Amino acid sequence: MRRLRTAVLISGRGSNMQSLVADARDPAHPAEIVLVASNDPTCEGLKWARQEGLAVAGVDHRIHASREDFERVLNITLGIHRIELVCLAGFMRLLTPWFVKAWAGRLINIHPALLPSFRGLHTHARALAEGVKIHGCTVHYVVPAMDEGPIIAQAALPVRDDDTPDSLATRVLSLEHKLYPHALRLVAGGGVRVQENRTITGRDGREQETFIVPPLD
Ligand code: GAR
Repeated sequence: MRRLRTAVLISGRGSNMQSLVADARDPAHPAEIVLVASNDPTCEGLKWARQEGLAVAGVDHRIHASREDFERVLNITLGIHRIELVCLAGFMRLLTPWFVKAWAGRLINIHPALLPSFRGLHTHARALAEGVKIHGCTVHYVVPAMDEGPIIAQAALPVRDDDTPDSLATRVLSLEHKLYPHALRLVAGGGVRVQENRTITGRDGREQETFIVPPLD
């Protein structure tokens, strides 16, 4: 089986990257993670990846005159490693339409909210402020507009009466660590078809229970 040469792009801690790397250690996984790259060469996640013996690249956005220059170097780096699929995992740089179009259909992202609610930053605090009862995370294809693009997979959890932004962030992050590996397997295995702004996976969860919060008695 030919495995898709995959890069993970991070900016910090890299816990999602670690969960992708761990899952893709399975030789039967349809993706092989061959590169971890970051816009911050000193970030924690890059240190971890280096220790694990993975190929790493630090492309420091601060030394480049423009977003385009930074992305050109990033793109060349991806080319050198013959990357076929890119996973953004806590990559905190906005990407230009040029880069996004160059990787269209081969660039996915995880966002810590149930899109299209709470695009952007501080998603957990905003979810609490809006009083939602169900919150979660989303893996989606990246398009030029921020946090838009066809949704591949979502995971949800109940918001608790005593949740704080931090407690919610902790529980959503654990959910991200399950969702992203699952979504990467689906995408790399060819199990996701894009139809306009939707994805069709043939696995629509129809046998699952409805999720009601607060629960019925
Ligand atoms: C994750 O919660 C991820 O969803 C979020 O940053 C965190 C990175 O954590 N991404 C975004 O907010 C993207 N806009 P990690 O570095 O431990 O994976």
